[in-house]
Formats: sequence, structure tokens, C-alpha cells
Amino acid sequence: MAERRYSRPRRSIDEPRLIAFDAMRAINGDGAYANLVTSELTAGLYPRDAGFVIELVHGTCRMQGSYDRIIEAAAGRALSSLQVEVVDVLRLGCHQLFRMRVPQHAAVASSVDLAGVAISERVTGLVNAIVRKLSSKDFDQWCDQLGETLSPRAEMGLRLGHPHWIVDALADALHSDDDELAALLEADNRPPVPMLVVRPGLAKRTELLTEGARRAPWSLWGVERPGNPSELPAIRQGRAGVQDEGSQLVIQAATAVHPRPRGPWLDLCAGPGGKSALLRGLCPTLLVAAEPQVHRAELVARALRAYPGGYQVVVADGREPAWVAGSMALTLADVPCTGLGALRRRPESRWRRDSSQVSELAALQRELLTNAIASTMPGGIVAYVTCSPHRAETVDVVAQANGVEVLDAPALLPDVPAAASRLDPRFIQLWPHIHGTDAMFCALLRRIDAPRGA
Ligand SMILES: C[S@@+](CC[C@H](N)C(=O)[O-])C[C@H]1O[C@@H](n2cnc3c(N)ncnc32)[C@H](O)[C@@H]1O
Repeated sequence: MAERRYSRPRRSIDEPRLIAFDAMRAINGDGAYANLVTSELTAGLYPRDAGFVIELVHGTCRMQGSYDRIIEAAAGRALSSLQVEVVDVLRLGCHQLFRMRVPQHAAVASSVDLAGVAISERVTGLVNAIVRKLSSKDFDQWCDQLGETLSPRAEMGLRLGHPHWIVDALADALHSDDDELAALLEADNRPPVPMLVVRPGLAKRTELLTEGARRAPWSLWGVERPGNPSELPAIRQGRAGVQDEGSQLVIQAATAVHPRPRGPWLDLCAGPGGKSALLRGLCPTLLVAAEPQVHRAELVARALRAYPGGYQVVVADGREPAWVAGSMALTLADVPCTGLGALRRRPESRWRRDSSQVSELAALQRELLTNAIASTMPGGIVAYVTCSPHRAETVDVVAQANGVEVLDAPALLPDVPAAASRLDPRFIQLWPHIHGTDAMFCALLRRIDAPRGA
């Protein structure tokens, strides 16, 4: 690794660790997304160094809440009494000590040097003392010590890097034993191999089956392929995209419902447009893609750009429809959610959410579903989709829907094993540890009359 010397000649720190520190400050100080910030900051690095930064930053973000408890125990003081920059150095030190193959002496010395170079020589004594204390036990020993005062679920969250409230919510939706719950939490900590999707009518899977690629297990359009997707011309030209297989499967199910009246299709919450692009490729008439945020509507237009027409992107709030009520043959409501089903692809997100956001989101989700039903013609199909398995965002939202018949959604994915929600088997619930997808939920509803109160 290249070394940089900074103002104090007696200390130096390698560039990847300094970049990892800058990334942590952007994530924890400025609210940046780990994926975006690491891909920006590692752009000019050798692949090996870039890989080190990504593993260090993403891994630290995933385990951050657990590391914070351990740092408090090692320091013998509350995290809030430490300078925020020092806390980020200590978090990076934890990940190197506990989860990476960095020798203990190197993890300790580099944490002290990083603090001296990136913060100030004044904090190096404190960092040295705390990192040495951290290194006196391994991760399991720290969890054994801290777990003595925790409930079993909180202890599982500590060991597997999940906030307690998320462990409880996942346990409720999974409705299983602790072994399966632990398997799910472990799957949340494994970054997924990129899954690609060919856009119907624009590309075929054979074009993407290059070295190391394989067909997705169930999706009609999916190809799993390690490496940088933008190496492929089909991706650069918008004839294919990057999309989790769970997202592909809910569209596969929604578009397999028969009979369905003829008419336009609506994507009510379209940004950034992955599902819109798939829907456009399958839609026999017109796709209307609505998104209230202008910059996300631009992403939808970009996702659709390879299609010659047959779609309209509308900047609109799904609660104030800009189209004729009862005019859509198929409406997708892929609602904003907590994202508890996509924790494996968003390293920092689990620590940014808190349980108080669930009820606020659920109220918005109920409103959007009501408007999705109102937008759909009698006999038409509404697909309620969310990337969260939380009961309040899934079955509880659908339970309040009026004027609809609930369809057997898992029956439309006959080859996908164990696709039924354990909270209500009429709905699809996919899981990272079973299907290798995001934990995507899908309810399929047929409108039978005008919903009350719409
Ligand atoms: C889960 S994302 C949709 C993902 C998208 N279907 C895809 O596959 O690329 C939810 C989207 O809903 C949008 N949204 C938020 N509030 C909304 C509202 N009131 N009406 C419609 N869309 C909304 C968000 O901006 C976000 O782009």
C-alpha cells in the first residue's frame, strides 16, 4: 500500500486507511451512503487497495452499533463523551481487530497513526489506550461479557450486528426458531453478487452469459455476474440493468395474473426506475411511471431510455393522482419503506433507522395503496410491493385495503420454494437466507369495486 506523509514527519499512514477514515466521516458526519462514498473515494486506487477500503468501511458500518457498545465498555465511558472523529478511528480499529485478517499489532499501531495524522497528535494517547484495551479480548469474548446483561434477542443482535428492534421485527415476520433467525441476520451481513436483468425486447440473457455468469435461479430475465456491470455494452446502453432477483420476481408474479383487462399500466412509486423498465418491456400498451422527486424521476427516464416509446414519466405524488381514476389495468405500488429487506446492500442503513419511523411510513403506505386501488379499473390488478418484511409495512397495510379480492400470489411463482409469507400465505415473502434475494414482499389484489374513502 502506498504511504503518505503528512505534516508530522514522525507519523505516516497508508492511503487506504486514510480514505476509509474520510469515508466514515462522510457517512457518520454528513449522512452519506456508504456505497456511494466508497465508490467515489476508491475510484483511483489499485483494485487491492480499493477492496481493502470497501471491506473495511462497509464491514465497519454493518457492525457499527455492536462496535460502539464494545468501545464504550473498553473505554469505560459513554461514546458521546468522545470526539466523533476519535470514535470513527476506534470503529475502524474494531473491524480490523475483530473481523479482518489484520495482525493485532498492525491494527493497534495503524489506529494510533491514523488518529495522529487525521485528527491530532493530542488524541493518540487516548486512542492507543482504548485500542489496546479493545485488543485484549476477541469479538466473541466482548459479546460474552456484554451479553450477560442483555436479553437473548439483544445479544443475538450484538453478535450479528443488528439493532434489537430490527431483530424483533425480523423474528416476528420469520416466525421460526433462533437458528433460522441467526441465518437471516448472517445473510444480511454478506454483500450480494450483482444481479443483472435483461430488459424484455431489448436484450437476451445469452448476451450477458460471459465468464463467471450464471442464470438467476428463478427470474425469467436475471443473470448473476460478479464484477463491474458497466463493463457490459448492454448495461451501458440501458438494454439491461442491475436489479435484485427479488424485484424481478415480484414483477414476474404481478404480470402473470390472468385475466386482466386491457389498458395502461401504472408504476405509482417509480424512482429510480428498475421495475418501471421491466414493466415497460412487458406492457402491451402504455406505462405511466410516477415519482414525486424530480431527480428520481430523471433516473426513471434514464432507466427507460432504451425503449423507443410506450411510456410516460410523470413527476407526481401518488397521493394526488395526475391520471384518471379507475383507468389502469395494472398498478404497481412499490412503496417507500424502512428497507429492512435490503440491509445486505446498504451497509449503514440498519443503524440510521429507528422503530418510530415504522408507523409514519405505514401511514404513507396505506394512503398510497388506497390511491393505487382507486387508480385501477374494476377487474384490474394492484401489486403492493415493499422491500421490508415488517408486519406493519406488509400484511397490516394490505389488511385495510377496501374493494379488492386478495389473490394467491405465491402460486404465480410455482418454481420458487417457500415463497409464501409466514404471516399470511396468500402473499409472497422472499428472504436473503433462503432465496438469496432481498426480503421482498408482494400482495396481489384484484379490484372488485370502488374503494371506500378513496
Ligand atoms: C421503494 S422506492 C421504489 C423503487 C422503484 N420501484 C424501483 O424498482 O426502482 C419508493 C419510491 O417512492 C417514492 N415516493 C415517496 N413518496 C411518494 C409518494 N407520496 N408518492 C409516490 N412515490 C413516492 C420515493 O421517492 C421512491 O423513489
